[in-house]
Amino acid sequence: MTSKCVISLDLPEDIVAPLSDQFDLLTWSGREAMPEVTLQEWLADAEGLLCALSTPITASVIAGAEQLKVISTISVGVDHIDLAAATAAGIPVGHTPDVLVDSTADLAVGLMIAATRRIAEADRWIRTGQWSQGWQSDLLLGTDLSQATVGIVGLGPIGEATVKRLRGFGATILGWNRTPKSLEGVEMVDLEDLFRRCDIVSLHTALTPDTLQIASRKRLASMRAGATLINTGRGALVDEAALIEELSTGRLRAGLDVFETEPLPADHPLLSLDNAVLLPHVGSATFSTRMAMVTRALDNLRAGMSGQPLPFCANPEVCGFNG
Ligand code: DGY
Repeated sequence: MTSKCVISLDLPEDIVAPLSDQFDLLTWSGREAMPEVTLQEWLADAEGLLCALSTPITASVIAGAEQLKVISTISVGVDHIDLAAATAAGIPVGHTPDVLVDSTADLAVGLMIAATRRIAEADRWIRTGQWSQGWQSDLLLGTDLSQATVGIVGLGPIGEATVKRLRGFGATILGWNRTPKSLEGVEMVDLEDLFRRCDIVSLHTALTPDTLQIASRKRLASMRAGATLINTGRGALVDEAALIEELSTGRLRAGLDVFETEPLPADHPLLSLDNAVLLPHVGSATFSTRMAMVTRALDNLRAGMSGQPLPFCANPEVCGFNG
């Protein structure tokens, strides 16, 4: 009998087709997130799950999936999966590290420039018919990256790639990492110092219980007037309510690719704030990066389905002992 595999998101036909030769596939084809109850039903007798950030894989989903041999997510982050529950159940979780480093670092720097040079705001300004006079000396003034002190919170691969790009801009760079690290051209400081001293703070840590709201109300309040917060990691790294207060008074600016709630609700207060550049979680959204992520996720899925160690495993404790 062919093993059953659930795909909890809509993927292009040519990506899914090769899998259908090997597995009995059940694919969620809605653009909206798959409801948990449907996921639970589908997983009742499935051996594989291919998923992404849009599907929370909770402890109760895992508990009901008694045949499950592998969870493979098309993402590097695994905070949407109850990793402890998967590990306790002996289920390896595959993810996609490395391949989205450059795309995400590009976007972080893009957001820095967009926020500090007011690119999105200027675009809106033209489109709403406000450009009625020619060049003006004080129109939409911003600040220079070359003169900025930029703080990188989390010097993993994406943080490091962001540093590499910032060196080219001539920025002064401060860094903080959970474990000691030294990087050429980066002054390592503690978190309080970093938030206090920087013109731009960019978040690059994974979301874990330790990093939840690492950009806390107190740290946001300690940032310089006119400073900018960049987040391409996870929404919950920031105390969003506190950030909204700081943006509403005009004290801070922000460039955000991720939010506490995604998609952002239509009446969300951030949507009315001109000093925030907002993107719909597209840090890894380039053709080649998405293809590389899918390839990695399919390799993990196939390995797990056949009881082999996953090439890219987020819970190594169980990755070699599957099946
Ligand atoms: C990830 O892979 O974790 C990103 O957030 C999605 O691009």
